[in-house]
Amino acid sequence: MSSPRGQFSSKTGFILAASGSAVGLGNIWGFPTNAAENGGGAFVLIYFVLAFCLAYPALMAELIIGRHTRSNMVSALQKISTGEMARKVGKYTGFFGVIIATLILSFYSIVAGWMLAFLLEPLSTITGLSEVSDWLTEFGNTRNLIFSAVFMIFTTAVISAGVEQGIEKWSCRLMPSMLLLMVCLIVYVMFQEGALTGLKVYLLPDFRQIGDPQLIASAMGQAFFSLSLGVGTMLIYGSYLGPDENLPAMGAIVTLVDSSIAFLAGLLVLPALFVAQQQGVTIYSEAGNLIAGPDLIFQTLPALFHGMGAIGIPVGLVFFCLMTIAALTSSISMLEVPVSYTIENHRIGRPTSAWLIGTIIFIFSGFIVLNFDTLFNFTVTLTTEYSQPLLGLMLCIFATWVWHRDKMLAEIRSGYPQVEQSLFWKIWPSYVRFCCPALILLMFVQGVLN
Ligand code: PHE
Repeated sequence: MSSPRGQFSSKTGFILAASGSAVGLGNIWGFPTNAAENGGGAFVLIYFVLAFCLAYPALMAELIIGRHTRSNMVSALQKISTGEMARKVGKYTGFFGVIIATLILSFYSIVAGWMLAFLLEPLSTITGLSEVSDWLTEFGNTRNLIFSAVFMIFTTAVISAGVEQGIEKWSCRLMPSMLLLMVCLIVYVMFQEGALTGLKVYLLPDFRQIGDPQLIASAMGQAFFSLSLGVGTMLIYGSYLGPDENLPAMGAIVTLVDSSIAFLAGLLVLPALFVAQQQGVTIYSEAGNLIAGPDLIFQTLPALFHGMGAIGIPVGLVFFCLMTIAALTSSISMLEVPVSYTIENHRIGRPTSAWLIGTIIFIFSGFIVLNFDTLFNFTVTLTTEYSQPLLGLMLCIFATWVWHRDKMLAEIRSGYPQVEQSLFWKIWPSYVRFCCPALILLMFVQGVLN
């Protein structure tokens, strides 16, 4: 059944779309490198605890508000507020979410553009176009602009096709392909010399680091970014869910898929690093830390692929294809946030809205590209480290302090009447009311002070 504002046609459609939003560059790149930098297994352990004890409850707040209000974040927070003051705060919080989603997409599309460029590189190598290969892999404004534009065109095309025909259809195609590519790569890398050392670095916990505030702050930031929280992506996806779906179960599945794929990505990236070391590639920086950041993806791994000889070409191709797909299923969810807002609150048609906002975001990306040294890291830190946790905090507050408790409980019951006998019912409302805001605030302050 399709409603005028769009709806996912099936459970699987929603699960793949929401997991697609969650699984992105944050999982395949951010998670393994964060783990490598923060005590390997210790980080993995803390991450899993935080993902289920902090990010999952916050995700539920978004899904519940979204499905109840059936609207974008700006209207949703207003709808669940009773007083004049609360409605105002709701409106501005919603706006802030829309702006942060837009800004995240402006830097995300640049990085995704690099993935596209590196995806094409093996093709130019095969055809002997070495100048093209160099252009594709060297940092330059023209390349960055062209590829972030191409990536934005893909993203916008999917969003302009709508919820069922765009988001759901493409998530159902892309997510299984991504998983398949990933499993193939893991199997291949595991059989290479050096892989076991990487596996040890990844999985053996360094327990001395487990209480390290830096580790905990990184794990929280990673969990919020990875589950796409705070900026209204999960809220809007929740609003496209039917009233007869079991929300706590849906949210749990999405959290599980997201964490499992992050875990799998670690099984790929860290062993690959140590395979590269076996081949003579430097994998430690001068300060003695494992190479993380962009160098890992755009220098160390490509060096590994080159060192593999002929097989390195398809392996590199598959790797960057995986990265591009992961980025695309996330970027569409980011674009849906401002697009749903303009469709619903300004009555602009979906295609016009999508292409208009897609263009505006590309202009933002252009600014970042042309002022890369000043703007790139600034935008990443501002949006993901500061804004996302704070917005997540606001959403927990709206769900449990501002919204009428009975209405909130009725929404959880919808689609799952037996919920009243479950642990979720007993714990979640007070947990999100007291513990989540306190924990988020505590870790946020600690992170800022650090
Ligand atoms: N979750 C995505 C990732 O891991 C990023 C994202 C953030 C998506 C915010 C939507 C909103 O890469």
